[in-house]
Amino acid sequence: PRILILGAPGAGKGTQSANITDEFDVEHVTTGDALRSNKQMDISEMDTEYDTPGEYMDQGELVPNEVVNAIVDEALSQADGFVLDGYPRNLEQAEELEDMTDLDVVLYLDVSEEELVHRLTGRRMDPETGEIYHVEYNPPEDSEIEDRLEQREDDTEETVRERLRVYRENTEPVVEYYDDQGTLERVDGEQAPDEVWESAKETIESAT
Ligand code: AP5
Ligand code: ZN
Repeated sequence: PRILILGAPGAGKGTQSANITDEFDVEHVTTGDALRSNKQMDISEMDTEYDTPGEYMDQGELVPNEVVNAIVDEALSQADGFVLDGYPRNLEQAEELEDMTDLDVVLYLDVSEEELVHRLTGRRMDPETGEIYHVEYNPPEDSEIEDRLEQREDDTEETVRERLRVYRENTEPVVEYYDDQGTLERVDGEQAPDEVWESAKETIESAT
């Protein structure tokens, strides 16, 4: 299947995408991870405000569309089934996506803003496996893993607030766009991870 997963920063897109790739035979296409591996890429030729993606990301701003569109276009052309996470983030990207591919299901993880801040500031990443943890909600059992966990550079309270502002301004209209098309499948993302997964899985199965 071709799955789009939408949701605010910290809504659980990465967490649920991992479940989706385990369950269904699809690739995880994520602009956030792709950009994090290319934070120092020289984009100055594109006539952008900053010379690298990292300068946008560390301030919680969107990386310019032409940089991100190219990444997604390339990744989708190589994937049969996918779960797309982190894109589209504004209406222009949503229109680009229409020209790239059709979607079977659009999932929207609905989570309140207060909970989002708590999730993001408590998130920890395993640099060796890419596994996502949370100091309270999902701590690792192994103390060796616990010792090597890192915080994402954009998960400071100040940058989180800016990411949420950018989300409200640019990405909420994208959620409305799919809702108006009648394709948006709303999942209560405020539940425990396993319950969110149960709802998401059912939604994907009945849509495909
Ligand atoms: P990106 O990496 O996409 O970040 P984001 O959208 O801010 O989303 P997150 O990854 O922070 O959250 P998530 O929804 O994946 O939550 P997670 O599962 O980790 O983008 C980063 C930056 O890259 C952007 O700011 C921008 O600069 C740039 N960028 C990316 N795409 C772009 C684009 N298309 N255009 C322009 N720029 C772009 O979960 C969060 C935490 O909560 C974890 O600790 C997890 O363990 C915990 N958790 C998850 N689910 C639950 C649950 N149900 N209950 C309790 N805790 C939970
Ligand atoms: Zn993510």
